[in-house]
Amino acid sequence: MTDIKKGLAGVVVDYTAVSKVNPETNSLLYRGYPVQELAATQPFEAVAYLLWNGELPTEVELARLRATERSYRVLPADVRAGIDLVPLDAHPMDEVRTALSLIGARDLAGSGSVLDASGSAAENLSRSIRLFSVLPAIVAYGQRRRRGQQPVAPRDDLDYAANFLWMTFGEEADPVVVDAFNRSMILYAEHSFNASTFTARVIASTLSDLYSAVVGAVGALKGPLHGGANEAVLHIFDEIGAAENVVPWLDAALAEKRKIMGFGHRVYKRGDSRVPTMKAALDTLVAHYDRPDVLALYETLESEFVSRKGIYPNLDYPSGPAYNLMGFDTLTFTPLFVAARIVGWTAHVIEQLGANALIRPLSEYNGPDERHIEGYVPDD
Ligand code: ACO
Repeated sequence: MTDIKKGLAGVVVDYTAVSKVNPETNSLLYRGYPVQELAATQPFEAVAYLLWNGELPTEVELARLRATERSYRVLPADVRAGIDLVPLDAHPMDEVRTALSLIGARDLAGSGSVLDASGSAAENLSRSIRLFSVLPAIVAYGQRRRRGQQPVAPRDDLDYAANFLWMTFGEEADPVVVDAFNRSMILYAEHSFNASTFTARVIASTLSDLYSAVVGAVGALKGPLHGGANEAVLHIFDEIGAAENVVPWLDAALAEKRKIMGFGHRVYKRGDSRVPTMKAALDTLVAHYDRPDVLALYETLESEFVSRKGIYPNLDYPSGPAYNLMGFDTLTFTPLFVAARIVGWTAHVIEQLGANALIRPLSEYNGPDERHIEGYVPDD
């Protein structure tokens, strides 16, 4: 009998040098560096450089990347006009997907045959940097237009994280908030062959273009079993309301066999390596905004759920309330994940193309036996 690996669980499909997830030690390495060390010491731009190039940047390399990043921060007018065609009540992930698709079409216009679509490693690196640079404008513009606010122009005196918050809220964020946001971007940047990254690699493996790979990845990330969970965590927090409601809420949810979003992981079964760092960032935000009620709800739900099911929180569990405290709308949370994961997706597309093999698994047919159209007589 064929051994079916449903959901590709446990299947190793290729090598990667981008990151290493180790469920035994609950650790995550980006190009060899523990993610918690990177989050504590590096700006997101330096981690992006590391994931793309394999080494942390020198001062000069970081300054060059930052200069390029600043030069692509403005949302092009035609992309903005394209976003405006997306209904205001569409999900922001549909808006992000549309914007990235438009940017790709603009960039590749006139590039000729599909045979040239995949591009060189150098072309793909500069496309990756452009997407990384413009995504904050896309995400910030989306939140602001839903709130009926005008877009805010980027500030050249601010680095990536501070400028992202500036363009979203139109005011300079406190350094505590910038630091927590920077850490969240680093933690979300990369996670080996997760569903959206694998989607990007499948698309790249057909020698399609990097933009198509990224647009497909956005679609995969939107689902609540993957990136959509950070949004879903806040819906759960809103439903529960306060720590004292956790026990009756959980009793009912488990009786209905509901999935509790922000818990569980396909690879980590004893806790997500990224959670302690993001939980520490959440703690600083709770202190900064003086919101012990958020922490009480967070910790009560965590301890109740873990003690009953033995299933631990994943990164989306602390990042949801953290983004909420920073002032992001709940619907903006998964687009924030895109802004971070664009780095991992594009690093993987470049790696895939560097040693490509078309990704094309097999399936075991379990449909009807061969049958024929009644009355059909084949031509001679
Ligand atoms: N709430 C309730 N039960 C759960 C949860 C959960 N969050 N997660 C797993 N389980 C249960 C399942 O119901 C199942 O129980 P059963 O064997 O009695 O049917 C068992 O644990 C195994 O769960 P699967 O979904 O089969 O395990 P899988 O490895 O495929 O799931 C997944 C991983 C999809 C992440 C799952 O844990 C889940 O749905 N979690 C909620 C969504 C979520 O938080 N996603 C974010 C992922 S991390 C990220 O994208 C940053």
